Amino acid sequence: MTVRLAPSILSANFAALGEDIRKVEQAGAQALHVDVMDGHFVPNITIGPPVVKAIRSVTRLPLDVHLMITDPDRFIPAFIDAGATTLTVHCEALIHLDRTLNFIRSQNVLAGVSINPATPVSAVEHALGIADLLLIMTVNPGFGGQKFIPYTVEKIRHARRIIDERNYKCVIEVDGGIDTATVPLVVKAGAELLVAGSAVFHSPDPGRKVKELLEIAASVGYDHRHV
Ligand code: DX5
Ligand code: ZN
Repeated sequence: MTVRLAPSILSANFAALGEDIRKVEQAGAQALHVDVMDGHFVPNITIGPPVVKAIRSVTRLPLDVHLMITDPDRFIPAFIDAGATTLTVHCEALIHLDRTLNFIRSQNVLAGVSINPATPVSAVEHALGIADLLLIMTVNPGFGGQKFIPYTVEKIRHARRIIDERNYKCVIEVDGGIDTATVPLVVKAGAELLVAGSAVFHSPDPGRKVKELLEIAASVGYDHRHV
């Protein structure tokens, strides 16, 4: 299992976003994580479709768009038009998760489902067969730079077990508090796509930090004994 890194632009310099994106792309990051917040689902406001569209024009990296918004169905078409590669919705924000995931996939966009730290994996267990990605939040969503919540590691293991046993193609992504100290914990537990915001963009050399995190991930690897 090759572990990939998706730097979160939330912690980048918004006044020089293109430059920051270039740095992590050149360093070998495999995707860009784009955090969309609406001030309702989470207590913070960030960006919308126009910014996603602008980013799309300056990078070849897949855009992993994380929708932390209420009523995501209303805005999904706009984010698809803007060029999202993956659209991840929170199960806590949706009444008809199955319908939403199927709609995203019908538009030839990868569909992700996310769960907050206090939401059990079992809440989305049956949707994992129709999801391209499961985003397990390892902090409470809303802000960059928060501390990793240790009990989420058990949830990663649980999801890994379900996905492997049923042969689902769903990728496990983790987001929040991912840095050199926590990469080994989540990779051993079975995470394959790591989001890192402040660890990358608040470091003096974001490109170097990308390489360092990827090297740590590759040296650790998934540990079957944890399952
Ligand atoms: C938090 C966002 C994250 C955030 C992670 O709600 O979903 O993607 O950017 O930031 P760090 O890596 O600093 O915890
Ligand atoms: Zn995110």
